[in-house]
Amino acid sequence: MAIQVQGTQFHLKGKHVSYIFSLYKERFLTHIYWGKRFESDCDLSYFPDEFIYSRANAVHVRLDETNHMFMSDLQLEFSVFGGGDYRLPTFHARYADGSTVSEFTYEGYRIMDGKPQLKGLPSTYDEGDAQTLEITFRDSRTGIRAVLLYTIFEEYDVITRSIRYENCGTERADILSAQSTTVDFYGQDYKMLTLEGDWLRERSMEWRKVGHNTMTVESRRGMSSHMCNPFIALAETNATENGGDVYGFSLVYSGNFAASAEGNSCGGTRVTMGINPFNFEYPLSPGEQFQTPEVVMVYSDTGLNGMSNRYHRIYRERLCKGIYRDAERPMLINNWEGTGTHFTKEKLAEIARGGKALGLELFVLDDGWFGKRNIAGSLGDWYVNRDLLPDGLEGIANETKALDMKFGLWIEPEMISPESELYRAHPDWCIHAEGRNRTLCRDQLVLDLTRAEVRDYVVDVICKVIRSADISYIKWDCNRNITETASMRQTHDFVMGLYDILDRITGAFPEILFEGCSGGGGRFDPGMLYYMPQTWTSDDTNPIRRLKIQHGTSVVYPPVTMTAHVGKIDVGKEGYNHFLNTCAMVAMAGNFGYEMDLSLLSEDELEQAREYVEMYREIRPTVQFGAFYRIESPFEGRFVSWEFVDDTRAVLFVYQTEKESNGAERKIKLSGLDPNANYRCRDRVYSGEALMKVGLRVPLQRYEYFADCYVMEKLEG
Ligand code: DGJ
Repeated sequence: MAIQVQGTQFHLKGKHVSYIFSLYKERFLTHIYWGKRFESDCDLSYFPDEFIYSRANAVHVRLDETNHMFMSDLQLEFSVFGGGDYRLPTFHARYADGSTVSEFTYEGYRIMDGKPQLKGLPSTYDEGDAQTLEITFRDSRTGIRAVLLYTIFEEYDVITRSIRYENCGTERADILSAQSTTVDFYGQDYKMLTLEGDWLRERSMEWRKVGHNTMTVESRRGMSSHMCNPFIALAETNATENGGDVYGFSLVYSGNFAASAEGNSCGGTRVTMGINPFNFEYPLSPGEQFQTPEVVMVYSDTGLNGMSNRYHRIYRERLCKGIYRDAERPMLINNWEGTGTHFTKEKLAEIARGGKALGLELFVLDDGWFGKRNIAGSLGDWYVNRDLLPDGLEGIANETKALDMKFGLWIEPEMISPESELYRAHPDWCIHAEGRNRTLCRDQLVLDLTRAEVRDYVVDVICKVIRSADISYIKWDCNRNITETASMRQTHDFVMGLYDILDRITGAFPEILFEGCSGGGGRFDPGMLYYMPQTWTSDDTNPIRRLKIQHGTSVVYPPVTMTAHVGKIDVGKEGYNHFLNTCAMVAMAGNFGYEMDLSLLSEDELEQAREYVEMYREIRPTVQFGAFYRIESPFEGRFVSWEFVDDTRAVLFVYQTEKESNGAERKIKLSGLDPNANYRCRDRVYSGEALMKVGLRVPLQRYEYFADCYVMEKLEG
């Protein structure tokens, strides 16, 4: 049993991890332990008592059943406003009488095999390999029920948490904050990792020390955003990539989120994560339910990389779904960086032919094919521009197919341009606040997906487009955030509306590979990965800057989910072949493709570009489905190295981002190899043990920047 109940103690037991909490004084759910697996079944429910009485003793206060002033000393799993806990609550609501005080009492628990689906929300799913614990609390005065859901994936060492609120009373309550998780850590010897940035520099790693303060990362943009990812990790102060305790929190949600680490005066640290309470108020009428999104929680005692490995596995195998979950992803050529929206039918055909000559498998027609689109306008008018493509999408899809390539298409379904037939017919279909300016961004507005008729229109029109030609891949873009909302529930309802159309559209075409995109990587989050198993990582295809973007992204997201293309930068410039090598080596460490007008490449460069395609084809299974190790970080110096490893080989990418004059020798120690096996690399045979203990010697280069790839094939016997 992965879930054990002993008296008042609940124990979630993974293969290597334990998460233990108990019911204190029959009322408070107190956190006890999260860390390396407990082998014995010892009872730890004495722990909160010991802790609270030692604190009370220190300040000479008598503590009894009626004195709850010391709630802030308790390490809680669920906390509400009122009763003496002054830290950020899990739940905060305003009731019919205007009061915002809650008093929840314990009702009971039940254990289920498997994992229930969260209504309307994306989440991890089980394949008979999870168990779920439901714990119910009830606010006696209002009848609101809080159902805490804990799932343990034993084999994956992953715990998920969410809460369902049910109004079983007779009066409406307005939810002011409904967090998905609260975990109170004993101690403050932690640093917090967040992934922050902006357009063209997404998911930069930032560390901050936990102290007597509240550190919050959040999005208020209606979408998870370029600026901050719905993820935080708390790591022991001395934890590193490969050692020490690290605790990850990743929210399966694509809208406004908040995650906080709050150090309090009692020496503890509270982590809360969920929908951002900012500009949020949600009415819950009698009989209604509110389900919070899920937080995926990972503990690692082998540092940050150990945490990433666990996220990669669960997200690859129990979040991403459909036929592409386990299938190698096609190498593509996309016309965007080569042509923008200024293309002709002939130019597109030439790019597709060029891609075929390189050995690429899929041609993607990006923005500009519909309505009267010319960089701005027409979003919402999803019919093909026959002036540009007289034979329609079918024509270009058939031409691509004749090359024995698959055809893919760009769409941006959530948007509406004021310059569109759709807007002229339905000016009220965008998100707007009556009587206020409608702020434009990229000349577009956001469709009000909270309205059923708008959702039905989008599903209908997009399904028609997809059915109009032989389409194998869809790139789903979203190029702006939400500005003026009409109510405080609208941003959350928009996200729910988005999930509804994603569910219907992706569900209607299970054979199509969907890729998420949001002005680059502005919505690279687990919520989107549930519907679309890969995401365009960033609009910045400069390989040196991409190193940081891909490194930061890999903290949570598996490399197969990160699309990475060789872009058009510097094509035609002197010395391009050297730059091309670096571009390709960075892109090959993700989900690989090209994005340029290949006619600008010389014969030699084309040959070089073709060789990268062949090379990626060889290493693709390892890069896309192997374990990933960050060895040297672009955030720490000018050397970067990444390793991918599976049962057949290891692939090591090494990068140098500055010139090294007369520097020291570089030895890179690999991870995850079979110590008893031999590996062949560039006509030399190394033992796995030696590669891990002594390392692989990588020569320094005299170039301003440099990249290389070492493939180590595992030898039989
Ligand atoms: C932003 C995306 O990130 C680009 O790749 C491209 O698809 C453009 N949008 C098209 O408008």
